[in-house]
Amino acid sequence: MTQESSNDVLPGFWYAAASSDQIRSGNMVRVKMLGRPLLLVRDSEGSVHALDDHCPHRGIPLSDGKFDGKLIECCYHGWKFSCAGTCVEIPSLAADSPVKASRIKVRKYDCEDRDGLIWVYHAGLGVTDAPPVPTLPKFSENYSQQVFWRSMKCDLDHGIIGLMDPAHGPFVHQSWWWRSRKSIHEKEKRFEPIELGFRMSEHEPSPNSAAYKLLKIYNKPVTTMIDFVLPNRRIELIRCGSYWYSSQAVVTPIDKGETRLYFSVAWNVFRGVPFIKLLQKFFADRFIGQDREIMEKQAVGLGDDPSIMLIDGADTPAKWYFQLKAAYLRSLEEGTEFEHPVKEPTVLRWRS
Ligand code: FES
Ligand SMILES: [Fe+2]
Repeated sequence: MTQESSNDVLPGFWYAAASSDQIRSGNMVRVKMLGRPLLLVRDSEGSVHALDDHCPHRGIPLSDGKFDGKLIECCYHGWKFSCAGTCVEIPSLAADSPVKASRIKVRKYDCEDRDGLIWVYHAGLGVTDAPPVPTLPKFSENYSQQVFWRSMKCDLDHGIIGLMDPAHGPFVHQSWWWRSRKSIHEKEKRFEPIELGFRMSEHEPSPNSAAYKLLKIYNKPVTTMIDFVLPNRRIELIRCGSYWYSSQAVVTPIDKGETRLYFSVAWNVFRGVPFIKLLQKFFADRFIGQDREIMEKQAVGLGDDPSIMLIDGADTPAKWYFQLKAAYLRSLEEGTEFEHPVKEPTVLRWRS
């Protein structure tokens, strides 16, 4: 591959650290993200907070302590911290001790609960203001929502380019309800540059796609549009008259060779269908499971450090990803404007 794949994490973005339902009220959860352990807590008012999961006293994970919905108590010497990370009590201090507990802080991260995911902001060097929290587009007041996630043994870049790889579908996701090798046909799709990413312009889905097959029942034109935006996010919008289905897939770097795929969806189609969430879970688990399996196989191969390649057509989006990433890092390092590598709308052709 001409582009270096790596586990470098781009600063200046929000990353999904957990699904919202993992962090219940009064709960403390330790999660790993970007190679660091994070403590996620949901206070008694329902807000989620992210802190470094180490006690500033002697480093024990705060997640081993207690949380009463307001204060976090370390299990070793009972120091207590607010959800903002400020130390509010040191039980061992003598009455006249000059030590000021309030000067002691646990590192706190910006954190938001949105679309069923807990997002944590990774500031990094040279980036000051956080961009808006990634939000799933919705087109009606009433809708349903669901989140799926899986850990994957793969490096970050391969997890991400897997999200935008159209050619693996008929091989990895073969099934009666999705597609088979026999359904492979030539495709031509228009792509256009968008802010920090690119878009597969709105088009009618191909007849072998699941969206097309299911939405045919509404007897209205179906359109789909797929965006990829840095650092790791693929958003797909399917619309059919007043009905819509949006999904976003993000790959969070956990540690070297380890990522987590989060898939969050919102929709107003088929809302009356019983067991829709169960059904969707069944298919999503299978689908994500197939990706996870192939990623693991690939990780075995890549462990031998073979040379690999990206070909024009089906792999062009992956090439763009590496170019976007390099352009973004360059703009940070040099303090210059981001220079978009995709200059103009382009038509790509491949078979899938
Ligand atoms: S290590 Fe946490 S209070 Fe001492
Ligand atoms: Fe896949």
